[in-house]
Amino acid sequence: MPALVEADDLGLYVIKFRGAGQGTLALLAELVAGEIGRALGLRVPELVFIEVDAALGRNEPDQEIRDLLKASVGLNLALDYLPGSVMFDPAAGDDATPELASAAVWFDAFVTNVDRTPRNPNLLRWHRELYFIDHGAALYFHHKWQKVQEAALSPFAPIREHILLPWATEIEAADAEAHCRLSEKLFEEIANTLPDDWLRPDPGVPDPVAKRAAYRDYLSRRLEASSIFAKEAIRARAELV
Ligand SMILES: Nc1ncnc2c1ncn2[C@@H]1O[C@H](COP(=O)(O)OP(=O)(O)O)[C@@H](O)[C@H]1O
Ligand SMILES: [Mg+2]
Repeated sequence: MPALVEADDLGLYVIKFRGAGQGTLALLAELVAGEIGRALGLRVPELVFIEVDAALGRNEPDQEIRDLLKASVGLNLALDYLPGSVMFDPAAGDDATPELASAAVWFDAFVTNVDRTPRNPNLLRWHRELYFIDHGAALYFHHKWQKVQEAALSPFAPIREHILLPWATEIEAADAEAHCRLSEKLFEEIANTLPDDWLRPDPGVPDPVAKRAAYRDYLSRRLEASSIFAKEAIRARAELV
Protein backbone atom coordinates (compact mmCIF):
# COMPACT_ATOMS: atom_id res chain seq x y z
CA MET A 1 0.00 0.00 0.00
CA PRO A 2 1.72 3.20 -1.14
CA ALA A 3 0.89 6.56 0.50
CA LEU A 4 0.92 10.18 -0.56
CA VAL A 5 3.19 12.39 1.54
CA GLU A 6 4.53 15.90 1.52
CA ALA A 7 8.31 15.78 2.02
CA ASP A 8 10.58 18.44 3.53
CA ASP A 9 11.28 19.78 0.02
CA LEU A 10 7.49 20.54 -0.12
CA GLY A 11 7.08 18.09 -2.98
CA LEU A 12 4.28 15.50 -3.02
CA TYR A 13 5.50 11.92 -3.30
CA VAL A 14 4.05 8.44 -3.40
CA ILE A 15 6.04 6.43 -0.84
CA LYS A 16 6.86 2.76 -1.31
CA PHE A 17 7.34 1.45 2.22
CA ARG A 18 10.12 -0.94 3.17
CA GLY A 19 7.79 -2.36 5.81
CA ALA A 20 5.15 -3.42 3.23
CA GLY A 21 4.61 -6.95 1.83
CA GLN A 22 7.81 -7.81 -0.08
CA GLY A 23 9.93 -5.44 1.99
CA THR A 24 13.12 -4.02 0.55
CA LEU A 25 13.06 -6.44 -2.43
CA ALA A 26 10.10 -4.50 -3.82
CA LEU A 27 11.98 -1.23 -3.33
CA LEU A 28 15.05 -2.60 -5.09
CA ALA A 29 12.92 -3.75 -8.03
CA GLU A 30 11.09 -0.42 -8.17
CA LEU A 31 14.38 1.48 -8.32
CA VAL A 32 16.36 -0.79 -10.66
CA ALA A 33 13.50 -1.40 -13.11
CA GLY A 34 12.36 2.23 -12.97
CA GLU A 35 15.80 3.55 -13.88
CA ILE A 36 16.15 1.00 -16.68
CA GLY A 37 12.77 2.15 -18.06
CA ARG A 38 13.97 5.74 -17.96
CA ALA A 39 17.23 4.79 -19.75
CA LEU A 40 15.10 3.17 -22.46
CA GLY A 41 13.37 6.52 -23.01
CA LEU A 42 10.14 5.61 -21.25
CA ARG A 43 8.57 8.11 -18.84
CA VAL A 44 8.94 7.02 -15.23
CA PRO A 45 8.14 9.50 -12.41
CA GLU A 46 11.30 10.72 -10.68
CA LEU A 47 12.45 8.23 -8.02
CA VAL A 48 13.95 9.53 -4.78
CA PHE A 49 15.10 8.14 -1.46
CA ILE A 50 12.99 9.27 1.45
CA GLU A 51 13.71 8.98 5.15
CA VAL A 52 10.74 7.96 7.33
CA ASP A 53 11.11 9.37 10.83
CA ALA A 54 9.92 7.38 13.86
CA ALA A 55 7.79 10.40 14.83
CA LEU A 56 5.63 9.98 11.70
CA GLY A 57 3.79 6.94 13.04
CA ARG A 58 3.33 7.99 16.63
CA ASN A 59 0.09 9.91 16.23
CA GLU A 60 -1.36 7.77 13.47
CA PRO A 61 -4.80 6.59 14.70
CA ASP A 62 -5.13 3.63 12.30
CA GLN A 63 -3.38 0.59 13.81
CA GLU A 64 -2.47 -0.97 10.47
CA ILE A 65 -0.93 2.23 9.11
CA ARG A 66 0.84 2.83 12.42
CA ASP A 67 2.43 -0.63 12.21
CA LEU A 68 3.45 -0.04 8.58
CA LEU A 69 5.09 3.29 9.46
CA LYS A 70 6.87 1.73 12.43
CA ALA A 71 8.20 -1.10 10.26
CA SER A 72 9.36 1.47 7.68
CA VAL A 73 11.47 3.79 9.81
CA GLY A 74 14.65 4.53 7.83
CA LEU A 75 15.32 4.72 4.12
CA ASN A 76 12.34 4.21 1.80
CA LEU A 77 11.67 4.90 -1.90
CA ALA A 78 9.30 7.52 -3.28
CA LEU A 79 8.01 8.57 -6.70
CA ASP A 80 7.09 12.01 -7.84
CA TYR A 81 3.28 12.30 -7.57
CA LEU A 82 1.47 13.03 -10.84
CA PRO A 83 -1.65 14.95 -9.82
CA GLY A 84 -4.71 14.34 -11.98
CA SER A 85 -3.22 11.35 -13.79
CA VAL A 86 -5.59 8.57 -14.87
CA MET A 87 -4.99 4.90 -15.57
CA PHE A 88 -4.49 3.93 -19.24
CA ASP A 89 -7.73 2.43 -20.53
CA PRO A 90 -8.13 1.10 -24.08
CA ALA A 91 -11.92 0.92 -23.53
CA ALA A 92 -11.88 4.72 -23.12
CA GLY A 93 -10.02 5.09 -26.43
CA ASP A 94 -6.47 5.23 -25.06
CA ASP A 95 -3.82 3.87 -27.37
CA ALA A 96 -0.06 3.95 -27.89
CA THR A 97 2.29 4.36 -30.85
CA PRO A 98 4.01 1.22 -32.17
CA GLU A 99 7.37 2.63 -31.01
CA LEU A 100 6.23 3.29 -27.45
CA ALA A 101 4.29 0.03 -27.14
CA SER A 102 7.22 -1.98 -28.50
CA ALA A 103 9.71 -0.30 -26.17
CA ALA A 104 7.35 -0.96 -23.24
CA VAL A 105 6.89 -4.63 -24.12
CA TRP A 106 10.66 -5.06 -24.48
CA PHE A 107 11.21 -3.27 -21.16
CA ASP A 108 8.72 -5.37 -19.19
CA ALA A 109 10.06 -8.60 -20.70
CA PHE A 110 13.61 -7.52 -19.83
CA VAL A 111 12.78 -6.74 -16.20
CA THR A 112 10.27 -9.65 -15.96
CA ASN A 113 7.39 -7.42 -14.87
CA VAL A 114 3.99 -9.18 -14.69
CA ASP A 115 2.15 -6.04 -13.59
CA ARG A 116 1.25 -4.41 -16.90
CA THR A 117 -1.95 -6.23 -17.80
CA PRO A 118 -5.45 -4.98 -18.73
CA ARG A 119 -6.55 -5.84 -15.18
CA ASN A 120 -3.61 -4.01 -13.64
CA PRO A 121 -2.03 -1.64 -16.18
CA ASN A 122 0.21 0.47 -13.91
CA LEU A 123 0.35 2.89 -16.78
CA LEU A 124 -0.75 6.45 -16.07
CA ARG A 125 -1.93 8.98 -18.60
CA TRP A 126 -0.77 12.46 -17.58
CA HIS A 127 -0.63 15.57 -19.77
CA ARG A 128 -1.15 13.39 -22.88
CA GLU A 129 1.87 11.22 -22.13
CA LEU A 130 2.11 7.70 -20.68
CA TYR A 131 3.99 7.13 -17.42
CA PHE A 132 5.18 3.74 -16.21
CA ILE A 133 4.73 3.00 -12.50
CA ASP A 134 4.79 0.11 -10.04
CA HIS A 135 7.80 -2.09 -10.77
CA GLY A 136 7.96 -3.64 -7.30
CA ALA A 137 7.17 -7.15 -8.56
CA ALA A 138 9.74 -7.01 -11.39
CA LEU A 139 13.14 -8.78 -11.32
CA TYR A 140 11.72 -11.95 -9.80
CA PHE A 141 15.17 -13.55 -9.96
CA HIS A 142 16.13 -11.72 -6.78
CA HIS A 143 13.75 -13.89 -4.76
CA LYS A 144 15.86 -16.92 -5.74
CA TRP A 145 19.55 -16.23 -6.20
CA GLN A 146 20.34 -19.95 -6.63
CA LYS A 147 18.53 -19.84 -10.00
CA VAL A 148 19.97 -16.55 -11.25
CA GLN A 149 21.70 -18.05 -14.32
CA GLU A 150 18.52 -19.67 -15.64
CA ALA A 151 16.41 -16.62 -14.80
CA ALA A 152 18.55 -14.41 -17.04
CA LEU A 153 17.59 -16.60 -20.01
CA SER A 154 13.85 -16.71 -19.32
CA PRO A 155 11.64 -16.14 -22.40
CA PHE A 156 9.08 -14.62 -20.01
CA ALA A 157 5.84 -16.15 -21.27
CA PRO A 158 3.63 -13.77 -19.17
CA ILE A 159 4.38 -11.09 -21.78
CA ARG A 160 1.31 -12.42 -23.64
CA GLU A 161 -0.87 -10.50 -21.17
CA HIS A 162 0.90 -7.16 -21.62
CA ILE A 163 -1.60 -4.34 -22.07
CA LEU A 164 0.38 -2.72 -24.91
CA LEU A 165 1.17 -5.94 -26.82
CA PRO A 166 -1.56 -5.29 -29.46
CA TRP A 167 0.26 -2.08 -30.54
CA ALA A 168 3.77 -3.54 -30.28
CA THR A 169 4.55 -4.13 -33.97
CA GLU A 170 8.19 -2.99 -33.72
CA ILE A 171 9.68 -5.30 -31.11
CA GLU A 172 12.72 -6.15 -33.23
CA ALA A 173 13.55 -2.45 -33.63
CA ALA A 174 12.96 -1.94 -29.88
CA ASP A 175 15.47 -4.74 -29.21
CA ALA A 176 18.12 -3.03 -31.37
CA GLU A 177 17.40 0.35 -29.76
CA ALA A 178 17.67 -1.14 -26.26
CA HIS A 179 21.15 -2.45 -27.06
CA CYS A 180 22.19 1.14 -27.92
CA ARG A 181 20.73 2.56 -24.71
CA LEU A 182 21.64 -0.08 -22.11
CA SER A 183 25.09 -1.29 -21.12
CA GLU A 184 27.00 -3.02 -18.37
CA LYS A 185 28.28 0.41 -17.33
CA LEU A 186 24.73 1.72 -16.88
CA PHE A 187 23.75 -1.40 -14.88
CA GLU A 188 26.76 -0.81 -12.66
CA GLU A 189 25.80 2.83 -12.11
CA ILE A 190 22.27 1.81 -11.15
CA ALA A 191 23.53 -0.99 -8.87
CA ASN A 192 25.85 1.48 -7.17
CA THR A 193 22.84 3.54 -6.03
CA LEU A 194 21.37 0.59 -4.08
CA PRO A 195 21.62 1.27 -0.35
CA ASP A 196 23.59 -1.25 1.76
CA ASP A 197 20.72 -1.41 4.14
CA TRP A 198 18.34 -2.84 1.47
CA LEU A 199 20.79 -5.55 0.36
CA ARG A 200 20.37 -8.68 2.46
CA PRO A 201 22.77 -11.63 2.36
CA ASP A 202 21.72 -14.53 0.14
CA PRO A 203 23.34 -17.82 -0.94
CA GLY A 204 26.35 -16.91 -3.09
CA VAL A 205 25.89 -13.16 -2.52
CA PRO A 206 27.04 -12.60 1.06
CA ASP A 207 27.40 -8.82 1.20
CA PRO A 208 26.28 -5.57 -0.47
CA VAL A 209 29.37 -5.38 -2.71
CA ALA A 210 28.77 -8.89 -4.08
CA LYS A 211 25.08 -8.16 -4.46
CA ARG A 212 25.55 -4.99 -6.50
CA ALA A 213 27.92 -6.91 -8.80
CA ALA A 214 25.37 -9.73 -9.03
CA TYR A 215 22.58 -7.33 -10.12
CA ARG A 216 24.93 -5.85 -12.74
CA ASP A 217 25.93 -9.30 -14.01
CA TYR A 218 22.37 -10.60 -14.14
CA LEU A 219 21.21 -7.56 -16.14
CA SER A 220 24.20 -7.79 -18.50
CA ARG A 221 23.52 -11.48 -19.14
CA ARG A 222 19.84 -10.83 -19.76
CA LEU A 223 20.69 -8.04 -22.20
CA GLU A 224 23.08 -10.34 -24.09
CA ALA A 225 20.33 -12.96 -24.30
CA SER A 226 17.58 -10.50 -25.24
CA SER A 227 16.73 -12.29 -28.49
CA ILE A 228 15.19 -15.07 -26.34
CA PHE A 229 12.51 -12.86 -24.77
CA ALA A 230 12.15 -10.57 -27.81
CA LYS A 231 11.29 -13.62 -29.94
CA GLU A 232 8.82 -14.82 -27.34
CA ALA A 233 7.08 -11.41 -27.31
CA ILE A 234 6.87 -11.38 -31.11
CA ARG A 235 5.45 -14.91 -31.04
CA ALA A 236 2.91 -13.98 -28.34
CA ARG A 237 1.77 -10.98 -30.37
CA ALA A 238 1.35 -13.11 -33.50
CA GLU A 239 -1.01 -15.33 -31.49
CA LEU A 240 -3.07 -12.29 -30.46
CA VAL A 241 -3.84 -11.01 -33.93
N1 LIG B 1 3.47 8.74 -9.09
C1 LIG B 1 2.14 8.62 -9.00
N2 LIG B 1 1.33 9.66 -9.31
C2 LIG B 1 -0.01 9.54 -9.22
N3 LIG B 1 -0.64 8.44 -8.81
C3 LIG B 1 0.10 7.36 -8.49
C4 LIG B 1 1.53 7.40 -8.56
N4 LIG B 1 2.01 6.20 -8.16
C5 LIG B 1 0.94 5.46 -7.84
N5 LIG B 1 -0.22 6.14 -8.03
C6 LIG B 1 -1.59 5.65 -7.80
O1 LIG B 1 -1.57 4.74 -6.71
C7 LIG B 1 -1.98 3.44 -7.14
C8 LIG B 1 -1.14 2.38 -6.44
O2 LIG B 1 0.25 2.56 -6.74
P1 LIG B 1 1.13 1.38 -7.28
O3 LIG B 1 2.50 1.93 -7.42
O4 LIG B 1 0.51 0.81 -8.51
O5 LIG B 1 1.15 0.35 -6.07
P2 LIG B 1 0.37 -1.02 -5.79
O6 LIG B 1 -0.35 -1.43 -7.04
O7 LIG B 1 1.47 -1.95 -5.44
O8 LIG B 1 -0.54 -0.73 -4.67
C9 LIG B 1 -1.79 3.45 -8.65
O9 LIG B 1 -2.65 2.55 -9.28
C10 LIG B 1 -2.10 4.88 -9.00
O10 LIG B 1 -3.50 5.08 -9.09
MG1 LIG C 1 -0.11 -1.05 -9.01
